[in-house]
Amino acid sequence: MSTHIGAKPGEIAERVLMPGDPLRAKWIAETYLEGAQCYSTVRGMFGFTGRWNGVDVSVQGSGMGMPSASIYAHELIDEYGVRSLIRVGSCGALTEDLQLRDVVAAIGSSTDSNMNRMRFDGLIDYAPVADFGLLRTSVEVAERRGISMRVGPVLAADAFYNARPDLYESLADYGVLAVEMESAALYTIAAQFKARALTILTVSDHIRTGAKTTSQEREQTFGQMVEIALDTIIA
Ligand code: HPA
Repeated sequence: MSTHIGAKPGEIAERVLMPGDPLRAKWIAETYLEGAQCYSTVRGMFGFTGRWNGVDVSVQGSGMGMPSASIYAHELIDEYGVRSLIRVGSCGALTEDLQLRDVVAAIGSSTDSNMNRMRFDGLIDYAPVADFGLLRTSVEVAERRGISMRVGPVLAADAFYNARPDLYESLADYGVLAVEMESAALYTIAAQFKARALTILTVSDHIRTGAKTTSQEREQTFGQMVEIALDTIIA
């Protein structure tokens, strides 16, 4: 096992979906994967491997925020040989034109995290981006499934309870669609280890209007997003 994942070598597939919530990982495995087996319960951060359309796929909870997500992404890629990761999560909409339940694919990720400033000695504003191949496939899959999906930049924030709403407004003016808390770390770590990563999100709340989805709505849109992610990761 690695420091935070209790799997034996070979128990994790090369393709991994990463929801933040470990119970979502369990739900995805039980709802979509054939023959799903739990490979880790360390810290309650469940991981499962099963098959989607005959192809091995794992689902691993990442926890909330970049410090947590970066631990799982790092160990999955570096210690278990994972090659493709798709985060499936929720986001708060920043721009007026996004609605609750919309699906967003994050082409790039701005961040207020200090992790990449440390990585590049504070000298470079590194731009974490999605893998183009995964992004292109996800757009094709969404079109084929008749699900409308916006592609655009997001903000990966350290704080859920934001002390500077004025900065969110400035970012929206620059076309940043939504805020979540993991994508910049995922994209950076995938780039570091030459793996592929994508983040797909559903809008769970609107920062401007304060509107929120119900838990039933979240489950339904979450399912559509997971189907896009599963078809994309096995393509
Ligand atoms: N902020 C950060 N992450 C989120 C939010 C939010 O408002 N909504 C869903 N994920």
